[in-house]
Amino acid sequence: MYAQMVKSTGQGVKPREEMSEEERHFQDRVDAGEKIEPKDWMPEGYRKTLIRQIAQHAHSEVVGQLPEGNWITRAPTLERKAILLAKVQDEAGHGLYLYCAAETLGVSRDDLTEALLSGKMKYSSIFNYPTLNWADIGAVGWLVDGAAIMNQVPLQRTSFGPYSRAMIRICKEESFHQRQGYDIMMKMAQGTPEQKRMAQEAINRFWYPSLMMFGPSDKDSVHSAQSMAWKIKINTNDELRQKFVDQTVPQAEYLGLTVPDPDLKWNEETGHYDFSEPDWAEFYEVLKGNGPCNTERLEARRKAWEDGAWVRDGLMAHAEKRAARTAAQ
Ligand SMILES: [Fe+2]
Ligand SMILES: [Fe+2]
Repeated sequence: MYAQMVKSTGQGVKPREEMSEEERHFQDRVDAGEKIEPKDWMPEGYRKTLIRQIAQHAHSEVVGQLPEGNWITRAPTLERKAILLAKVQDEAGHGLYLYCAAETLGVSRDDLTEALLSGKMKYSSIFNYPTLNWADIGAVGWLVDGAAIMNQVPLQRTSFGPYSRAMIRICKEESFHQRQGYDIMMKMAQGTPEQKRMAQEAINRFWYPSLMMFGPSDKDSVHSAQSMAWKIKINTNDELRQKFVDQTVPQAEYLGLTVPDPDLKWNEETGHYDFSEPDWAEFYEVLKGNGPCNTERLEARRKAWEDGAWVRDGLMAHAEKRAARTAAQ
């Protein structure tokens, strides 16, 4: 089963006989389910792939605060406002756990932030879509956090210790995020005809971008096989996407909403839903920077980084002063 998945990605894993002794020992530890810790020996490719993956994940958590943060002041009730505020704060915390995990691999948070701001590093494309009304906040929690959980639950078992431990903490909070989103959708779907229409439009807008969150189809996905051998990727993109569809369709039915895919249907033989692929041309356009909100999102991050410069400078000056004092003693 595993060999088959690796084969289907079309990417080669370094054959055992070509590995150095260190690489072999490392792979044995990974295969045995041991955690790799920051000071352990690791292949350079493992380190680099992990930095890219963890940082991209951290950036997504932080940028992901923007489409929801802009609804905090407009939440319909005090209770909804408090819930949304807590969720958005959680996302900031997720970003921090993950930046810390990336830092154990020998990069600084400043470097990672600069790579984000210069466009060298990416964040999840989903956050380049706008949230136009309150129902979109429900759809984001239900579908976007729902897709994130699908991705993140297996990563709790990832081979790199700090990443795995960060994911365990994050997953606990993500299920609350999804529940609050579904709860908003439920209220809207059972509300006035106008509210129900808003809920339907929100699922229409967020369905395909949510499916894109799992990344390109396995046949077009690079890096996969090696990442799976290293256990920094546990399932393939298509497996996770299928799981998400299978879980979400009955939830949409329960809400009385229609998934915007005329070809969606239960397949008795496979025991899964058949569904339409998202528009991958759109995905690559958004990835290139041409989504509806790319410029706005990066501008917001740049402004936050610049506005926070005095705090960082102050902290550094304080740390230097303290170090000088300790050295003098
Ligand atoms: Fe999160
Ligand atoms: Fe979340």
